[in-house]
Amino acid sequence: MRIFKLVAIVVFTTLMMPGCNGPEKVSCKIEQNVEQLLSRMTLREKIGQMNQLNGRRPDEAFFEQIKNGEIGSILNIEQPELINHIQSLAVNESRLGIPLLIARDVIHGYKTIFPIPLGQAASFNPDIVQEGARIAAAEATQDGIRWTFAPMMDISRDPRWGRIAESFGEDTYLTEVLAVAMIRGFQGDDLSNPSSMAACAKHLIGYGAAEGGKDYNSTYIPERQLRNVYLPPFEAAVKAGCATIMTSFNDNDGIPATGNRFLLRDILRKEWRFDGVVVSDWASVKEMVVHGFSADDKDAAMTAINAGLDMEMVSLCYIRHLETLVEEGKVSISTIDEAVRNILRLKFRLGLFDNPYIETDKTRLAYSEEHLQAAKIAAEESFVLLKNNNNVLPLNDRVKTIAVIGPMADAPHDQMGTWVFDGEKEHTVTPLTALREMYGNQVNIIYEEALKFSRDKDKSRFNKALDLARRADVVIVFVGEESILSGEAHSLADISLQGAQTDLIREIKKAKKPLVTVFMAGRPLTIGEEVDLSDAVLYAWHPGTMGGPAIADMLFGKSVPSGKLPVTFPKMVGQIPVYYNHNRTGRPARGNEVLLDEIPLEARQSSLGNTSYYLDAGFGPLFHFGFGLSYTTFDYENLILSSLELDANAVLEVSFNLTNSGAFEATEVVQLYVTDLVGSTVRPVKELKEFRRVSLKPGETRKISFHLPIASLAFYGIDMEYKVEPGMFNLMVGGNSQEGLMTQFSVCL
Ligand code: NOJ
Repeated sequence: MRIFKLVAIVVFTTLMMPGCNGPEKVSCKIEQNVEQLLSRMTLREKIGQMNQLNGRRPDEAFFEQIKNGEIGSILNIEQPELINHIQSLAVNESRLGIPLLIARDVIHGYKTIFPIPLGQAASFNPDIVQEGARIAAAEATQDGIRWTFAPMMDISRDPRWGRIAESFGEDTYLTEVLAVAMIRGFQGDDLSNPSSMAACAKHLIGYGAAEGGKDYNSTYIPERQLRNVYLPPFEAAVKAGCATIMTSFNDNDGIPATGNRFLLRDILRKEWRFDGVVVSDWASVKEMVVHGFSADDKDAAMTAINAGLDMEMVSLCYIRHLETLVEEGKVSISTIDEAVRNILRLKFRLGLFDNPYIETDKTRLAYSEEHLQAAKIAAEESFVLLKNNNNVLPLNDRVKTIAVIGPMADAPHDQMGTWVFDGEKEHTVTPLTALREMYGNQVNIIYEEALKFSRDKDKSRFNKALDLARRADVVIVFVGEESILSGEAHSLADISLQGAQTDLIREIKKAKKPLVTVFMAGRPLTIGEEVDLSDAVLYAWHPGTMGGPAIADMLFGKSVPSGKLPVTFPKMVGQIPVYYNHNRTGRPARGNEVLLDEIPLEARQSSLGNTSYYLDAGFGPLFHFGFGLSYTTFDYENLILSSLELDANAVLEVSFNLTNSGAFEATEVVQLYVTDLVGSTVRPVKELKEFRRVSLKPGETRKISFHLPIASLAFYGIDMEYKVEPGMFNLMVGGNSQEGLMTQFSVCL
């Protein structure tokens, strides 16, 4: 009976396939291979494929499990010889010879470390994001890693949340574009190429909205907001062929993502037709018990698999309980088969059956000149110039002595940032080293660390620092956060500078010398006072391996800042959440609000005429989304629309002239925002719809044209249908989210 069933399935699926000819040939062949293999597997072997284990310390028992076909994937293993060994156990000594899938968190570089993703986002440049991921894949695959858990595409509007460092910031559209670029970089054109890695869109869903910015915390995102704000990058990832998706730790409105059937089955599989692998986050199946959502591990396994989770990361609920659950009829064999199909399909797509081993004798690509150069360019493009009074930067010929001060000037480990397992600090070039090596023959560089690390409170060397500052023509102070202060499980309630760093800046200020502050951090910090004290401020995020040379060249004007903030900087923590594309309120701030000190004594109770703002912080943030200065200036003029009235299928051509009106050849990130003036539900004050990097020589003017599909104005409104609603729209083009040329157009249906 059973044999008959299997034969019937194979015959049925083969009949369903259009004969494996034509352009679909490869995927058709893969489907056939998957079905053939699946038909030979025992239930235990199937469940084995759904089991992902940590391979950090593999022992004999672990090897036995591989031979028994009880492990489908291993993470955290990166020694090529060991990987080849365990792969041979799987291929030659397990009954069916199914290769293992080796995974690791390769987040912003493998050996050559690129800026943290939040920094990369500041470049507004999908090309450098794609190139960074391609390089990471080239390096990591040489060590046998064929699956990375990136990109993280959680919309992040809370800088207290440590993982904001791993994100592309607060905007849905920017995240979507950059995440797709990263996926393309990791996966290349062909997943079966040995230098391609499967990407993983994570974390589905809403993890960045963790309550109070506390990691692993609950979220409360209603379906409309999920669909309008949080889900679009994931849908774009699926459309771009992202091979895998990871569920998030958080529960949204009471349902942990790992057990969310609506999310995994209705949206992901049915609406988006995703045919890749859905993996849990680390032990997030078991954690449904801790959440109090599942009674025990067995219940958690049942909930996760029935919700549509294919592979469990490390917590063993599947391998321990799925067999019984199938026997008890609580999980159907077709549900198991569906999950295993997704996993086998990925292994075939990666070419692992043809080519499971790593060629260990190839020239090592890690830290190659080409990779280091790419990392340097990425770092340069990620830097955001936040202030530059009296054009202190770039440093001019009159500067003969530079005092380099601060705990981040020579911190090779910390400048790499969070989620670095494999990059080695010995390869990092710090700003101090770079300044000495690249500009040491031109200027005299004097250095005092003053604080050993960012949390250091010992002020005993401040005198020395002040002394040095007095002897210099310019002081450059490097402050920020150690790498471990952001990233997973590193949320902060206070995001001002740690330790005695602010005191250090206050002290150095006494020298009355031009003061340049360079921040290296994994998140926006509340730095109002430090900005006020400084003449120039460069925000360099955690810039990675080549951060030093990139900073040195920018300070000396060999490169020009072009980065723009991918996230709003609050003045103080109490302003959070603060993001540019918030909904319109009934009492919007006007900018002339009464502040705390202006309230008369014994003022009478009143609310009329008041707006949505804080008495102490006002309305605006410290720095707006999209903001960033250059060494030059850009003028926007002559905004013209191809039509003032369009239908929903039209494409609006938006053109204007951009002039470089300063003295440096430079790149501007041109941004286009749209406001939907009346909606069936309240709409955001504005939304980024397009952006482009434009490089111009001094004095050059160029006509810039965007082609904005009216379809891109669609959203989920009152009836939860994704569509463009007719009416008036404001349109703005400019160099940040607040200033620019404005006009209007209307959409009719
Ligand atoms: C937990 C993190 O949330 C996830 O992003 C990561 O990929 C896994 N651990 C594996 O390390």
